[in-house]
Amino acid sequence: MYNKIHETVKFLKEKGISNPDFGIVLGTGLGSLVDWIDIEKSIAYRDIPNFPVSTVPGHSGTLIYGKLGDKNVVAMQGRFHFYEGWEMDELTFPIRVMKYLGIDNLIVSNASGGVNPNFEVGDIMIITDHINMMPEHPLRGLNDDRFGPRFVDMHEPYNLKMVSTMEGIAKENNIRIQKGIYLALQGPTFETPAEYRMVSLMGADAVGMSTVPEVIVAKHMEMQCFGLSVITDLGIEGHVEEVSHEAVQVAAKASEKKIGKLVQEFISKW
Ligand code: HPA
Repeated sequence: MYNKIHETVKFLKEKGISNPDFGIVLGTGLGSLVDWIDIEKSIAYRDIPNFPVSTVPGHSGTLIYGKLGDKNVVAMQGRFHFYEGWEMDELTFPIRVMKYLGIDNLIVSNASGGVNPNFEVGDIMIITDHINMMPEHPLRGLNDDRFGPRFVDMHEPYNLKMVSTMEGIAKENNIRIQKGIYLALQGPTFETPAEYRMVSLMGADAVGMSTVPEVIVAKHMEMQCFGLSVITDLGIEGHVEEVSHEAVQVAAKASEKKIGKLVQEFISKW
């Protein structure tokens, strides 16, 4: 994998991607952040050697390079999920590429189901921690010490200074913000009422099907991570609602502008 990564990095550097400051995974809810990016390069995943190509509606597959304020960013428009059938090392491959492009700061976003009774649909949650309940671990197998250590410290998976910076920005902009723990399940089924209850009992505030593998791989390589989750539906006991991919997209879309604004200010300030 090490050689493949370097092949991809070489290709992207030759395309003009240089000195990026931030890597961004534009999951559900963060799509409109591209409107803030002064795009210099836009490359389809299918044209990038070794890159996976996403299959989920609403997840287009384009790698974007440009300026956000005075920072250079590499943004993934479209991410990969375990439930699509990708292996963990495939779906986290772009994160490793980002690291070897020179990126030390990663921003991820996703849509999730809220199980915290204080949450409302449309809330934006700063991810302060996660619980990995996916059936596979991205670091299982022989460790390649060139990436990082066998046993990875996870005492601060999401950078605390980034969390407090974003809280400050939300306050200044009068944007309601929540903080909480994100639990990752494989999907692709949404949770049953009993499963939402389990998620809550396990100590999480929201549940989704992504993000955790990317953050684990980023931490393996000592990147600083920051995550936002849009609460697109609720799995609160007694109030478990019907949910569909379309409803998730609609709810996420409604919060997109706010999230775009928050992240744009965050990157400028950092
Ligand atoms: N569960 C899992 N993933 C999700 C949900 C949910 O309720 N909402 C959006 N993504």
